[in-house]
Amino acid sequence: MENSKANVMSKEAMIQFRKNHFLPTATLYHRNPLHLTQAQGEWVWDSEGKKYLDAIGGIVCISAGHNHPKIKKALMTMLEEDTIQHTSTLYLNQASVDLAGRLLEESPEGLDRVAFTNSGSEANDLAFLAARQATGETIIMNLRHGYHGGTAGTLAQCGHGTWRFRAQPVAQATSALEPNCYRCPFGKAPDSCSLECAKNIETTIQTTTHGKIAALIVEPVMGVGGFITPPQEYFKKVAGIVHNYGGKYISDEVQTGSGRCGGDVFLTRELGIDADMITTAKGFGNGAAIGAVLLKSDVAQSMAGKAYFNTFAADPYPAMQAKLTLDVIREEGLIENAKAMGQVLQDGLRQMMKTHSLIGDVRGRGLMVGVELVKDRVSKEYATEECIRLMDECQERGLLLGKGGLMGNVIRIAPPLSIRREQIDFMLQVIDESLHAVRRIFAR
Ligand SMILES: Cc1ncc(COP(=O)(O)O)c(C=O)c1O
Repeated sequence: MENSKANVMSKEAMIQFRKNHFLPTATLYHRNPLHLTQAQGEWVWDSEGKKYLDAIGGIVCISAGHNHPKIKKALMTMLEEDTIQHTSTLYLNQASVDLAGRLLEESPEGLDRVAFTNSGSEANDLAFLAARQATGETIIMNLRHGYHGGTAGTLAQCGHGTWRFRAQPVAQATSALEPNCYRCPFGKAPDSCSLECAKNIETTIQTTTHGKIAALIVEPVMGVGGFITPPQEYFKKVAGIVHNYGGKYISDEVQTGSGRCGGDVFLTRELGIDADMITTAKGFGNGAAIGAVLLKSDVAQSMAGKAYFNTFAADPYPAMQAKLTLDVIREEGLIENAKAMGQVLQDGLRQMMKTHSLIGDVRGRGLMVGVELVKDRVSKEYATEECIRLMDECQERGLLLGKGGLMGNVIRIAPPLSIRREQIDFMLQVIDESLHAVRRIFAR
């Protein structure tokens, strides 16, 4: 791809500027940080013109593929026609109505109200507000290892110490144990457990609250936590408990939405979870800053008579991009592709476990695949340094991967849903070669 170098600052200068002027929390992936400048489909290019297969999609945000031609054309037309960029909800805006209609077609039955936001954090904050208003209760329950955003409200529900700040108030929150089959907090194995993790929701309500909660927030696959994939039966059981204690069930589909898990646009619908609200963002906008909350009518209705306003939410450009993203996902069979390619990827990685003892676990759904790295399969000691090196080795070979997990030892693979078989083969080949390289480095 042609790479215009005009006005491109040197990488060193940019790194220095960030060091001097950005928040010190702004970390970079890779020891040799990347300056990405261009993208198309499943590929991205850096400022030096080097091409990479994007297997993390800008942190699980690219669903239909980078700069999809249909979306690009519509954006260009809107600009050429001087289509209004900003309206807010105080004026009518066709794009927001089109998007809401499209979203409702993909929603589980019973969720028939939509609110838009600019991000996943805002969507979750709004869901907390709605749950509290609807129940008159204040306590939100979360899961350890969960992540729901970086605002004050969502950070209070964060299950990772790294993301918490010393003086950040955590009020009206309680945490249940994580449904992590690879590192079961109850010491059980999936084939012999009795879903102790689901029962723990009830115990936590009974022991840490006055007996009622406003809501439980759950990611159907725990993203930042390292693509922890709870057993399917977990969700129905948990929703039943939450409802018994008067709470609302919030399904955080910020990462899992948009068909990424290979069964439906929303995993909540595929798994038959009786959610009162679904929140989504990331892949929903395919790179545009937009989020949404889907709500049951009774929850939405409880907010009547008050004002909730969000200046930029569902302005015409991001709303159009999200609507066309959903269209492309359906028209091009990307959900089916996510299922098929996710299977090929998981099979290939499991095969690799025979030669690479560093891989402790392969898990996920569709194109949300986690590879947990351990120094030793018996002790399951976290291979955090190895994980960083593996990402760097893959980067050198033209493959971008993500990272997650409490100890940063889980490789996260979440490419655009349009990924093709030959690209999966390339990915597997690069991971294999890079794992050999990591083994050599750590054997020294
Ligand atoms: C599951 C989940 N919920 C919410 C968020 C917050 O979304 P945003 O960063 O768009 O505010 C994230 C971000 O990583 C996420 O993974």
